[in-house]
Amino acid sequence: ESLRASVTVQTDRPGSVIDPGIYGQFAEHLGRGVYEGVWVGESSPIPNTRGIRNDVVAALKELGVPVLRWPGGCFADEYHWRDGIGPRNQRPTRINTTWGGVVDDNAFGTHEFMDFAEMIGAEVYVNGNVGTGSVQEMAEWVEYMTADNNSTLAQLRRANGRDKPWRLHYFAVGNETWGCGGNMRPEFYADLYRQYATFIKTPRDNKPQRIASGANGSNTEWTEVLMREAGKHMDAISVHYYTLPRGEWKDKGAATRFPESEWMSTFKRTLRMDEILTNHGKIMDRYDPERRVALLVDEWGTWYDVEPGTNEGFLYQQNSLRDALVAAINFNIFHRHAARVRMTNIAQMVNVLQAMILTDGPKMLKTPTYHAFALYKPFRGATHVPVEVSTAEYKLDAESVPAVHATAARDQAGALHIALTNLDPHRAATVELRLPGQTIKALQGQILTAASTDAINTFEAPDAVRPAPFKVPRARGDRLQLEVPAKALLVLSQR
Ligand code: AHR
Repeated sequence: ESLRASVTVQTDRPGSVIDPGIYGQFAEHLGRGVYEGVWVGESSPIPNTRGIRNDVVAALKELGVPVLRWPGGCFADEYHWRDGIGPRNQRPTRINTTWGGVVDDNAFGTHEFMDFAEMIGAEVYVNGNVGTGSVQEMAEWVEYMTADNNSTLAQLRRANGRDKPWRLHYFAVGNETWGCGGNMRPEFYADLYRQYATFIKTPRDNKPQRIASGANGSNTEWTEVLMREAGKHMDAISVHYYTLPRGEWKDKGAATRFPESEWMSTFKRTLRMDEILTNHGKIMDRYDPERRVALLVDEWGTWYDVEPGTNEGFLYQQNSLRDALVAAINFNIFHRHAARVRMTNIAQMVNVLQAMILTDGPKMLKTPTYHAFALYKPFRGATHVPVEVSTAEYKLDAESVPAVHATAARDQAGALHIALTNLDPHRAATVELRLPGQTIKALQGQILTAASTDAINTFEAPDAVRPAPFKVPRARGDRLQLEVPAKALLVLSQR
């Protein structure tokens, strides 16, 4: 028997515009994320353009990447930008102490990153080094990227092959400064932030949004101190929140072949994102009622035990239908907080954590998460429309979560888009969709589901999990009754 839910789209109460940046990505020098996943080098037999994989670029162009964060993560606070410029055969090699202790030959530096971002049409978010850097080093990196005059650094950039300055959209002062970025107290970092941010100087027409390194999950004290002491000097503050099925770092849970209890706990923990954003938002509202300062979730996603037999420090994990639904739930939450949340960056783009793309030598596949991002494309830049959901719970033993989740938005052409997620892995949902005061016109549907909760795409069967057309039944006036299959994401769009 199916479960029941009703979803009322409040078309007369438009919310905030959903910043396309909410669908941003993150690529760190970590495992096979940048090296292999993006960069293979010009002499590689893998088809590439100036060293960057053509297959990955094509897949990302198709998806559309509004903004890309680089070079870390924890790596950012040990990255010295001068290591990554000039002739590649003369660049120093360094140890990536955070991620597996492997050697980074610095083949992928500022020029290669900017080239890649231009290829995929992404805005750039560069994360500066506070932990092991200096104010001068950071200021000079910013000058190198943005100077439009004849300064020595601008000339050096030209000598290295880039005449015009790059547009620098976002720049962060450190990463996780409460942890891998220096184990600082918020008071200390707030002062450091003010000092560093003072010297982010660029031409007037190329001012990046200045981002303060934000809190770990629910630590609102961090946000409180930063907003109080440094709020005036920032354009945004971040927050990081990952979904660990078992909630502990030592034994996080597997990406596939997980018990149903971990399907349940994964969604329970993902849903906490809403509360986290609400709580940080409340504090920000006190210091910044106009919402000038954005809250950026610049790291989120699932974090599982690494795939058996792979390097612990490479964070390589499989990506199943469960991940696609985790992405959808997060998107729905981000939409609700769109007034404050203007960028998020899933961790991470290729071969690391909850990736869009996995590669194996010359092979590449699009993960279920990639398809969730693709299905939500119409929401980018659309105006959020609140929905009221009344739903049966999906229950397992003593645990439960609401079975149906929904979001809606109206795009710039006036078309309405609605996403519905059924988290129950066994029962279909009979959903009564209502658009009060509107006649529901022809809707197109796309569905993402699979036979099992841990269905994945493999290099042998790369299209096992992918969206399929969904036949939308005929509406009656402002009502439409739909059957959303078990464990599925359905996106409906007005033609
Ligand atoms: O995304 C992996 C790591 O998670 C990042 O480097 C760090 O910022 C966070 O702890």
